[in-house]
Amino acid sequence: MFKIAVIPGDGIGTEVTSQAVRILKKASRILNEQFEFTELRAGGIAIDTDGRPLPEATLSAALASDAVLLGAVGGPKWDTLPYEMKPEQALLGLRKGLELYANIRPAILFDALLNASSLKPEVVKGIDIVVIRELTGGIYYGRPAGIIEENGTRRGINTMTYTVPEIERIAHTAFKLAKTRKKKVTSVDKANILHTSMLWREVVSGIQKNDYPDIQLDHMYVDNASMQLVRNPKHFDVILTENMFGDILSDEASMLTGSIGMLPSASIGEKHALYEPVHGSAPDIAGKGLANPIASILSAAMLLEYSLKQKELARKIFHAVETVLGEGYRTSDIATAGQNVLSTEEMGRRVENAL
Ligand code: IPM
Ligand code: MG
Repeated sequence: MFKIAVIPGDGIGTEVTSQAVRILKKASRILNEQFEFTELRAGGIAIDTDGRPLPEATLSAALASDAVLLGAVGGPKWDTLPYEMKPEQALLGLRKGLELYANIRPAILFDALLNASSLKPEVVKGIDIVVIRELTGGIYYGRPAGIIEENGTRRGINTMTYTVPEIERIAHTAFKLAKTRKKKVTSVDKANILHTSMLWREVVSGIQKNDYPDIQLDHMYVDNASMQLVRNPKHFDVILTENMFGDILSDEASMLTGSIGMLPSASIGEKHALYEPVHGSAPDIAGKGLANPIASILSAAMLLEYSLKQKELARKIFHAVETVLGEGYRTSDIATAGQNVLSTEEMGRRVENAL
């Protein structure tokens, strides 16, 4: 018995998550292993129902599960709430509470979507990049933080901070992954300006030298990296970077694949793991059956690969998606004129049947 906590969240989060659960149910039949799904509240829906974005019951149930599948949180309804009450706090609280320090975000271009990217086909063909984003440190969590009154004016403060052990463990994640791929890591920082980045670069270089001499390591400033990602994305294989840079670069990387609706993610710690699409709750299209469930479905595939060690089945899900796209089926975010546009649920069913 494998316990999966399901947190659909808000907006399209609920729509895409039910399609990922459909695929997990099929996976459970294929593996002949029982999955127990427990639905939990977090984000806006939890603010409305429980009076806070991350209810204690949700965190404790997530801690007690073998894996968490999350949709997305947030929406205009909750945007004006004070900081601690914002839906996004649910995400930050889960990441911290489950100690999910490593966020793995693969950006893979399916051949069928070559023309869905806004970049030229020859630039993006065959793109297969993984962004390893540090997820529980940096400016997202650094203190002091807040808005203070000072000399008759207000001042906003955030603190970017990293300790050596925080850098070391995420560097190991990236180097270990690189061993299974092209043996190449690009570490992205801003070491010409930021002290955290200077330490980052020093620590990452040291680990490569001592523990991974067979891995090729290069360093890149984040401004240059964001340019190279659209100029020559094939330069990259594994990108290792801190929390905020990873947030920004992974959205940019998603555009190489045609749509942010294609990008899955895994957030891993020593004891827990959470899987979620990279996209947000997309309030503008929520409730209309327009959302692309593929990012969520591929997140379910990552759950099978990382938490259940079912790499082969994960690969089959990937191929099922590839098959459906190859047959010309699309959701509206990745469709070009004249293509078969499916609803969220129809896409989920197609992938299920192809599996
Ligand atoms: C992401 C999102 C989140 C982040 C937001 C919703 C807090 O953009 O997972 O990339 O910034 O980490
Ligand atoms: Mg983001």
